This record gives sequence, C-alpha cells and structure tokens, in this order.
Amino acid sequence: MKIGVFDSGAGGLSVVKSLIKSKFFNEIIYYGDTARVPYGIKDKNTIIRYSLEALEFFNNFDIDLLITACNTVSAYALEEMNKQSKYPIFGVIDSGVMAVENRNISKDDPILIIATRATINSNRYQNALSNLGYSNITAIQTGLFVPMVEEGIFDGEILNATMRHYFSSIATPKAMILGCTHFPLISNSLQNYFDKKPILIHSGEAIVEYLKQRYELNRIENQDTKLKIFASDNVGGLRKIADKWLGYTQ
Ligand code: DGL
Repeated sequence: MKIGVFDSGAGGLSVVKSLIKSKFFNEIIYYGDTARVPYGIKDKNTIIRYSLEALEFFNNFDIDLLITACNTVSAYALEEMNKQSKYPIFGVIDSGVMAVENRNISKDDPILIIATRATINSNRYQNALSNLGYSNITAIQTGLFVPMVEEGIFDGEILNATMRHYFSSIATPKAMILGCTHFPLISNSLQNYFDKKPILIHSGEAIVEYLKQRYELNRIENQDTKLKIFASDNVGGLRKIADKWLGYTQ
C-alpha cells in the first residue's frame, strides 16, 4: 500500500513513526502545511479550506488512502475531504476512541483529553466517548505544548511549569488521550507528571491498530517503508526534523 499522511506541520511525523514501525506500508508520502501551521487556533472554515487545498497536493501521487494525522483536521474537515476524494481518507479521532475501547478502561474511569483549542471545541472526542457510555471525561486545551515541541522542548523546567499550569487541578486520570500530533513527543514528561499512571492513547499507534483491523494488513518484514517528505514551506527544515525524530532520510 502506498499511503499519504497529511498534517498541519511537523507533528504528524509522530504518526509516521508508528506507521513505519508497523511495516504494513510500502511507501508514505508526507505533506506538512508548514507555511500555515498551527491549525489548532484557526476557525472551522479556515481549517476546512486549508485541508481541501492540501488534498490537491496529493493529486500528484497515486495513493491508496490518506491519513489526516492532524487531530484538528480530523475534527473538522474529514467529511468535506472524503466528499472530494477518490480514495478513502481516515482521521485519527475514531481510531483514538477505538483504542480507548480496546484498553482496559471502565466506563466510569477518568479519561483526560488534551488537544488544541479547535479540537477540544469541536467536542468530537467528548461526544464519541459519551456515546459509548464513558461518563468521566475531562477535556482541556493545551495549545502551549505545540510551540514547545516545535522548539524541541520535550522535558525540563518550562515544560514542567506549563504542565502545572494546565494540570494543577486535575486528578490523575486512568487514561490520557494525546489528541494532538505533537504530544507523543512529550509523552514521557506527561507520564512522569502523573507518576507514570495513565494509559496514554497515541494517535499513531491507534490509527495503525484501526487500519490493521479494517484492511487485514500484514507486515512486510524484509522491506523498509519508503518515506517522501513535502511541505508548503521550508521543506529542508521538515526533512531535518524527520531525520532527528525518525532517524530516517530519503
Ligand atoms: N497537528 C495539530 C493537531 O494534531 C497540532 C498543531 C496545530 O495546531 O496545527 O491538532
């Protein structure tokens, strides 16, 4: 399978990491809209417009399916994108919710969702989880983590202070949904803040689980997944981040 991955910027590489590790895919075409990141503070119409423009980029490639690694895009633009596409497009919210169901999490266990302002305001995670009967959900906007990750801050005092700012009144959750592509990069710090107790739901691992089930995918053991990286601005910078995060150059 040749697949596309779309994100507002570099964060979607955290999803690419899981896709590569799965060994289910022959080739990944990645497009980051680095010229216009962040999406998480924009309004719905802008997010949809940018996402449809990104779809045009993928017309240059013969892909079998597209993953919108960005939670913000998944929350607002998936339906419009699917209407305009010949191949299926999957977001990361349904798969994240499925991952909660597949873990040992009871309906009244506390679940903490952290994401961008736009994703939290869409209520997509909250509604999907309540429809399944989960009753103890807290959702908070933690947008400051995004520029920190972009700056390469994955631990240390500034991050600790920001976690205290967001979480001081939050009890340790049973599960924490990392509802933003950037957050897996600070997953160790997030886990440590809550004494390593929460089960972390990571968009990349969740979408791999979801696609495996849906397409009955098999691992291709003797072949590395090819990765091609494109961006709307400073593609060299994005490729450098990919080298650092994935140890992978193409
Ligand atoms: N990729 C976005 C997400 O997962 C985070 C960065 C942004 O705001 O664009 O929601």
